[in-house]
Amino acid sequence: MIDIHSHLLPGVDDGSSSIQQTLEQLRIMAQAGTNKVYLTPHFMRNLYNNTRSATRPVFDNLLQKVKSAGVNISLELGCEFFIDNQAVETVKAENLTLGDSNYVLFESMLQQLPSDIFSMTYQLQKAGYKLIMAHPERYSNIIKSPSLAEDFLHHDIYLQINAGSLLGQYGRNIHHTALWLLDRGFAHFIASDNHGDHRMSVLAEAYNFVSQHYGDKIAEMLFESNPARIGTADKIELINHWRLPGKPVSLWHKLKRFFTGYE
Ligand SMILES: [Fe+2]
Repeated sequence: MIDIHSHLLPGVDDGSSSIQQTLEQLRIMAQAGTNKVYLTPHFMRNLYNNTRSATRPVFDNLLQKVKSAGVNISLELGCEFFIDNQAVETVKAENLTLGDSNYVLFESMLQQLPSDIFSMTYQLQKAGYKLIMAHPERYSNIIKSPSLAEDFLHHDIYLQINAGSLLGQYGRNIHHTALWLLDRGFAHFIASDNHGDHRMSVLAEAYNFVSQHYGDKIAEMLFESNPARIGTADKIELINHWRLPGKPVSLWHKLKRFFTGYE
């Protein structure tokens, strides 16, 4: 599995506070089958000024420690960017993407998505970035009207659901919203959003849950193959509801598949 969202860069945001804590979390993750983790500290203007130049030395030091501790996991430096109207300049100047890719993992205000959110996302897309929205199921607006998530899909924004949401760790409403999204195939990635406090691998638990309820192929796509496509020319796949077990394939989808070859 590849985890594209975690707060395990020690001492830089509200995640892991020490190298020891990070090593412990990485050990748990590696033992449960995660082979690559993107470290995605928050960038929030005026609160977490985690520019790439600030995080790079911490990351390089951690790489050495992971190697000498013998933890078998590969790491990439990333960012969870709190989107605003100056996003393009900051992301560009500081390479606040996932690794060296052009994918930006972004978040916004959980209590209220800004009314101009699609103007912010469009500015980044126009500048050549591909966007992944972190944990759509945690936004009040989407909890109230889950179909709003479809607007993000229509704006070519990828959706990353938190493993813990699927397991009910953020409460009932978020749990139901995550399942609602997954039932309709509105997800491209599942990630841990690990803040350094996991006693077991939520990613492995969520993988089992998804493969049991939605099938191995979909679990493999959300936890492995889609994350592996970041930084490559390969297209990220969307689960389509007609691929879920038991759902009939509609004529429209058959025609689309016939003409485009894309499910
Ligand atoms: Fe996060």
